[in-house]
Amino acid sequence: MSVDSHPSPTGEIVLSLRGISKNFGAVSALTDIDLDVHAGEVVALVGDNGAGKSTLVKILSGVHQASSGSITFQGKPVTLPDPKSALSLGIATVFQDLALCENLDVVANIFLGKELNPMRLDEVSMEVRAWTLLSELSARIPNVREAVASLSGGQRQTVAIARSLLLDPKLILLDEPTAALGVAQTAEVLDLIERVRDRGLGVVMISHNMEDVRAVADRIVVLRLGRNNGIFYPDASNAELVSAITGASNNSVSRRAGRRSTQSQAGTSL
Ligand SMILES: Nc1ncnc2c1ncn2[C@@H]1O[C@H](COP(=O)(O)OP(=O)(O)OP(=O)(O)O)[C@@H](O)[C@H]1O
Ligand SMILES: [Mg+2]
Repeated sequence: MSVDSHPSPTGEIVLSLRGISKNFGAVSALTDIDLDVHAGEVVALVGDNGAGKSTLVKILSGVHQASSGSITFQGKPVTLPDPKSALSLGIATVFQDLALCENLDVVANIFLGKELNPMRLDEVSMEVRAWTLLSELSARIPNVREAVASLSGGQRQTVAIARSLLLDPKLILLDEPTAALGVAQTAEVLDLIERVRDRGLGVVMISHNMEDVRAVADRIVVLRLGRNNGIFYPDASNAELVSAITGASNNSVSRRAGRRSTQSQAGTSL
């Protein structure tokens, strides 16, 4: 596929990784990873189990430190020694487990852990701020005073994303945001991701679901065995993506696609 046929991202580069490697003892989780994310761009990070996706996200959120390589954020070389420094630079992460407090309401959850920037807001201002944030995202949360325990999976994801936007980040990292969701809730969360992108943020989304990836990503970055294994655009075929992810061109998806194209060629020649 020609890269020229795709529009270049117009936003500035928010994040640039060069030569990032990470070893856990004798295990090389990541080797020589390059990655660019622009403002107003959704980059999907895909790869098989163990490919290194979560490790990369943890490096970017300051949970793990890279063994080597460089990180440039908003044009400046940075180090991310701990989660607090990642957050204060403007890198927000929504981890797969969301880490919401079930017994607290939506407002309390959105303001949890805001000690980085103690705004000393009273309950009313917090509620107004939570409403404003959720309505800017056109989020479907009927009552912000409801406990998170009573929300659907999609609504919880929405609360977690809204919370991560509170400190006005420039980059947001989403680890499997649609993994546990049904069809309608997935569509809602994908819409939400588009609105986050429309606010001008860079978005990195990990997903195993190629349909979701294609629906929302501007670029698809494949990792395989801890290395870069291709950059694709949403019009890539399933067969192309699957073979980059698995390293095999002879798999059931490509065989099926091959059969389909042979059949359609036979059909047109009739
Ligand atoms: N804390 C750790 N200690 C040792 N090895 C680790 C650690 N974290 C990850 N690894 C190893 O690094 C490699 C990449 O793991 P990672 O969790 O990043 O993969 P992933 O792409 O997120 O996979 P999945 O799709 O299953 O979530 C694996 O071989 C894993 O066993
Ligand atoms: Mg993972």
